[in-house]
Amino acid sequence: MEKIKFDFNNMFSHSIGKSHGVTDADIKGIQKRVNTAHKHLKTIFSNSQDRINLGLEWVKLPFQSKETIETIQNLGDEISSSCGSVISLGIGGSYLGIKAAQEALSPAYYNEFKSLRNGRPRIYFDGNNLDPDTLSVLLKNLNPRETFVVVISKSGETTETKAAFAVVEAWLRRGVGPTYGRQIVAITDPSSGMLRKRVDQEQSKDPLSFRSLDVLKGVGGRFSELNIGLLHLAMAGIKIQEVLDGAASMAKCCGESNLRKNPAYMYAALQTIMYKKKGKPIAIIMPFSERLKYTADWYVQLLAESLGKKYSRKIIRKDGYEAWIADRSKVVNVGRTPISARGTNDLHSIQQNNIEGENDKTVTFIKVERFKDDITVSGTGDILDGRPYSKLLAIAQEATEWALVRETRPNCTITIPEISPYYWGAILFFFEIATAFEGELLGVNAFDQPGVEGYKNYMYYKLGRGGIPEAISDNIKNNPLIKKNKYILR
Ligand code: PA5
Repeated sequence: MEKIKFDFNNMFSHSIGKSHGVTDADIKGIQKRVNTAHKHLKTIFSNSQDRINLGLEWVKLPFQSKETIETIQNLGDEISSSCGSVISLGIGGSYLGIKAAQEALSPAYYNEFKSLRNGRPRIYFDGNNLDPDTLSVLLKNLNPRETFVVVISKSGETTETKAAFAVVEAWLRRGVGPTYGRQIVAITDPSSGMLRKRVDQEQSKDPLSFRSLDVLKGVGGRFSELNIGLLHLAMAGIKIQEVLDGAASMAKCCGESNLRKNPAYMYAALQTIMYKKKGKPIAIIMPFSERLKYTADWYVQLLAESLGKKYSRKIIRKDGYEAWIADRSKVVNVGRTPISARGTNDLHSIQQNNIEGENDKTVTFIKVERFKDDITVSGTGDILDGRPYSKLLAIAQEATEWALVRETRPNCTITIPEISPYYWGAILFFFEIATAFEGELLGVNAFDQPGVEGYKNYMYYKLGRGGIPEAISDNIKNNPLIKKNKYILR
């Protein structure tokens, strides 16, 4: 297998100068923290209860048993052969990885052309917003008798998914009749939440209704693609084992504390130096590939939800195990702000700001060496004539690097030989390890998302849900949004 290349040259001072570039002394300076972080993660990785308690069980996902994969593959094949369309409902970590896989690993325009699907179903995504316009179009145009529904929610409580599932379930029931539940698979926590409860009820009446797969304990949403996303891979005809093999190869490649031998650690360390010492709080992720657009979106969520934190992490012992709590005496408000862009599309957009706006960002390129179906330009009668698209894309990426370097703008390039299940699994896992490691370097809990609770509580309060802790409902009641008319222009 060819190797993935991680080119960090343009993060260093020899390329972009000392004011903005990392020096060897900076690397030496962070090595001690790298060693401590590595030792800490390694200890957790080696203890299954710690992994589960702290939300790091995802590190084991590349190594799932053949039987697990076979069971999921069989279910995927069965669904795939029994329907023309699948609606996948979920949001955040229960959506983005799957959507990224769909866009990267199925052919472009997969849903539009039968010849591309090889007898597999069209796959639609919903439940990732509360915008009625998308779901209503879908339900008006799909035939419930030929549609399978996969509802994904670890908690089983998320408003967007819950609302969409209620609507879709009613639509299925109306269109299919009493056995409609046989066209539903739920992916949720093995023992808790409303969705699990529902699965148990329906299963006790009919074992073919509301079949389910588990979101494994200790695997959080945004780190769960290699768990919850496997059924989707199976349905779409993407080889699960190849994705896992790619991830496993990256796990091996990112196991050492030596920064020069561990690309994920090097990436995290460089980004941390850039952020903390060089004033670069903005993280632009820019694949030069249309098919990797949603992979960039997936990374945006991974970085933002994992590292954007108010409080520092405090490590304590609880019942003989390590536990992490928010240290309320240490407000840190950290986390780089990720932005998803893509080449060459955004060279005509955000790139102007990248080059001439504030020098407060790093750009991470993902470059693809080979494309399945290259096209050669012909008939322009100029410099484009006879050029393959892949060559033009490669030159555009190199030109973007060059332009950034000339303006002392830090950037790095991850080059994959091709977009395949193997390399896609590998880059996914690379970013997961890098993010977990960056969390260690920043001293925050990368596996919770307390900030998301604020909007949820407010919504629950407005919708009249009981059981909201008094302190929270009082806070909402006593601090309404201030809407002065003079600041509202009509
Ligand atoms: O990464 C996360 O934990 C979140 O983005 C969740 O995936 C998202 O909120 C959806 O949660 P759930 O799967 O419980 O519906």
